Amino acid sequence: MCAPLVVGNWKMHGSLAANRALLGALVAGVQGVESAVCVPFPYLAQAAERLKGTAIAWGAQNVSEHAQGAYTGEVSAAMLTEFGCRYVLVGHSERRQIYGETDAVAAAKFAAAQGAGLRPIFCIGETLAERDAGRTEEVVARQLDAVLGRCKFGDAVLAYEPVWAIGTGRTASPEQVQAVHGFLRKRMSAATRILYGGSVKPDNAAAIFALPDVDGGLIGGAALVAKDFIAICGMAQRKG
Ligand code: PGA
Repeated sequence: MCAPLVVGNWKMHGSLAANRALLGALVAGVQGVESAVCVPFPYLAQAAERLKGTAIAWGAQNVSEHAQGAYTGEVSAAMLTEFGCRYVLVGHSERRQIYGETDAVAAAKFAAAQGAGLRPIFCIGETLAERDAGRTEEVVARQLDAVLGRCKFGDAVLAYEPVWAIGTGRTASPEQVQAVHGFLRKRMSAATRILYGGSVKPDNAAAIFALPDVDGGLIGGAALVAKDFIAICGMAQRKG
């Protein structure tokens, strides 16, 4: 079993003032478990400044597949390392669905991040239509194979996030989560952390983290509420 990891995905939320309060509360409250926050690009310097020397790591939510050049609006992996990022989310379903990122683009971003020394948190997951059609395993295998076909997974983190459970308040049942995590575990080394994400809250985190092939969580909405994120970290700690 891997040591648990809890990652907050702030998405496009925050302000300098709100982040100051949230980061301060997390520094005071998160203990005994590996954790990280993935913040919007403009707040990386603030996160680095506040979290340096603490047990909480930080990272970004996206990265360019290119090293540099005429890519207006993009941010390279090397730039993220200059701000002390350890992690970067790659292939989040919102990137795939809203911004049309394909499996190939997600894999290229994974390679760019890893090449710069970042640890990608590679997100995969099926839509409700795909689940209803019985295609969950096929979809997550295809998404994962795009990366495994071109890179070693190394110390990257895998995150299973069923699209229908993200931001909907509808969590996958423990049976559904374990079925997919068990499937993924067979394809990964025993040392790869496999996180679950999708409406993880203080009232359901313990049951999800107790599952044998779940090594922590990727937390969206609840990561913006200090007491909720701290409570969720505490539940992961009990597993570790
Ligand atoms: P949620 O988001 O916890 O708000 O469902 C999870 C995610 O998108 O990573």
